[in-house]
Amino acid sequence: MSAKVLVDVIAAARPNFMKVAPLYHALSKVSWCRVRLVHTGQHYDANMSDSFFRDFGLPKPDVHLEVGSGSHAEQTGRVMMAYENVCLEERPDWVIVVGDVNSTAACALAAVKLGIRVAHLEAGLRSRDRSMPEEINRLVTDAIVDLLWTPSRDADANLLAEGIPPEKIDFVGNIMLDSFELVRPRIAEADTLAKLGLDLDRYAIVTLHRPSNVDDPATLALLVDQLVESSERVPLVFAVHPRTRARLESSGLLERLESAPAVHLIEPQGYIDFMHLVTSAQIAITDSGGIQEETTYLGIPCLTLRENTERPVTLTEGSNRLLKPAELVATVDQVLGDETRRRTPPELWDGQAAGRIVASLAQRIG
Ligand code: UD1
Repeated sequence: MSAKVLVDVIAAARPNFMKVAPLYHALSKVSWCRVRLVHTGQHYDANMSDSFFRDFGLPKPDVHLEVGSGSHAEQTGRVMMAYENVCLEERPDWVIVVGDVNSTAACALAAVKLGIRVAHLEAGLRSRDRSMPEEINRLVTDAIVDLLWTPSRDADANLLAEGIPPEKIDFVGNIMLDSFELVRPRIAEADTLAKLGLDLDRYAIVTLHRPSNVDDPATLALLVDQLVESSERVPLVFAVHPRTRARLESSGLLERLESAPAVHLIEPQGYIDFMHLVTSAQIAITDSGGIQEETTYLGIPCLTLRENTERPVTLTEGSNRLLKPAELVATVDQVLGDETRRRTPPELWDGQAAGRIVASLAQRIG
């Protein structure tokens, strides 16, 4: 290879940053590649974005599209227009998109239509629930990209069943665990509870932000009831996503949580502090995708408030279980009474995915 290959790595929203970080660092070390870090600005609050760049030692993005929030069409459209301009100014040889957020599908669409090759990291996951915006983003992205990096065997099977040619698919493992291993000692040493003024021996860590849980006031009210009752069994540390805080405020439910003595509401945390809270928790209660994987890796029981998951290995091989809002208290009781912990991470969830991804890309570049 003579001239360096220009690779754009797209980062957009909180769940992207930990996937991008190990890959960015690995690509930065290879001689044949020049990496351009592109932030679309889908997430922009300091604790939804900047803190992750700091925790992972990521540089300031080379390009910032500053698209911000909006309806799905607005956000997706703005990213497409802004990223198309970036590609027209200096055309990348490859674009890497990660995960399933609106910016993932938007950048893939913009680049593919310019004839630029695109790779998708975390390809092939399917919830089979098309009411989830992420499922639409996954389907659209995987249908059009040139190279699909999968985290688990079920993802390969999903892609093959959709008619994706096998030579486009590379099973590379789960990059999320690379991120964890990258900063593991700092996670262990963090004094997060003390910093937050919390003196707790045992607690459940809670996050909720999916539209299916927080957008309907009746569902949110039921969840709040269940959380308050669960907190009588085990104290809760609830990191409140901005969209959830807005919904709690507008439906008058925030006060009920604030006045429950064993519910501790905290702001969204950076990666190191948040993972410290996860690793020290008895249980995780969540609707996040990433936390289902991290708890599987760590063997911490995870109660996922969803009807389905695009990450089925966390159910079959991990510590995850799906439940309805009304089942929360009973499930918390059950899990607290069961001391067994499973920890055999799924295949290639080993903290070495970034190296395999770089090798896979090098092969395509020849
Ligand atoms: C997005 C992703 C979701 C991911 C989640 C993690 C899509 C369709 N959804 O959902 O897959 O699990 O990120 O957080 O891409 N807001 C702020 N500050 C921010 C970002 C957002 O206040 O930095 C508020 C805004 O009011 C915004 C709302 O949160 O309208 C929702 O943000 P958005 O990026 O549209 O979706 P998320 O719910 O964060």
